[in-house]
Amino acid sequence: MTSPPAPLSTVWRGGTGWRARLRRALRRLKARAAVETLPSVEAYALWAAAYPPRAHNRLMEIEQAEMLRLLPNVAGRSVLDLACGTGRYGLIAGQRGARRVVGADNSAAMLQRGGLRPAAEASMTALPFAANSFEVVICGLALGHLPPEAMRRAIAEIARVLRQGGTALFSDFHPYLYLKGGRRTFCAPDGATYAVEHYPHLVADYFAAISAAGMMVTAISEPLRQVDGAEVPVVLVMQCHLIACFSGE
Ligand SMILES: C[S@@+](CC[C@H](N)C(=O)[O-])C[C@H]1O[C@@H](n2cnc3c(N)ncnc32)[C@H](O)[C@@H]1O
Repeated sequence: MTSPPAPLSTVWRGGTGWRARLRRALRRLKARAAVETLPSVEAYALWAAAYPPRAHNRLMEIEQAEMLRLLPNVAGRSVLDLACGTGRYGLIAGQRGARRVVGADNSAAMLQRGGLRPAAEASMTALPFAANSFEVVICGLALGHLPPEAMRRAIAEIARVLRQGGTALFSDFHPYLYLKGGRRTFCAPDGATYAVEHYPHLVADYFAAISAAGMMVTAISEPLRQVDGAEVPVVLVMQCHLIACFSGE
């Protein structure tokens, strides 16, 4: 009697015993070690020339669909595209009738490549805007480039520049995907592949930072996709509101 063919996943993955698992883990470690990780400013200086102001990979398409689903009506409103890069969300806000759109990013190369004006060269952790300046703050795929303390400072800055009742909407490479070995890589003009510095922030980390900044989470989205044969969350999208202050009387 002949045995049934092995399931495709078993053949493809090279077995399920401990030796095979160890070999795969070593291969993954080697592959990861081979890709150099660059600090964000250095990485985007290299990436800027090939970074269009639109979703340009599958992860960004998934992320953008969720961001736009949760984006409030921006018509007639003032909008900050924070860590705007080449201006993807600021340009969308402009097309949707925003009264005023401003960008901010700490990469001069990304700002030059992009079409968003005005745009300030500034860090998310120290914004050059007065308190209560914007009704909507959008921040796409950038907070994960900050270490934990800087992420908390950036969220506090978002709350400071938002008007009472305003909306903040931001997205991140999902921490689960990062902890499973996923990396944010790009191909530089010299043909080499690099990873961009990234720090996984759990939903609980964001929730604590958002609450500490006086905002309230009003929606969370974690779309699932198949990665290596398993359904995993690939991006995290959070919508928050700046809570109005009550005098208590
Ligand atoms: C993945 S890109 C996203 C760009 C844009 N938000 C989008 O969604 O198309 C991340 C951006 O975050 C910016 N960034 C990273 N760290 C920053 C910081 N500390 N302050 C301001 N911008 C930062 C980078 O320069 C880059 O333009």
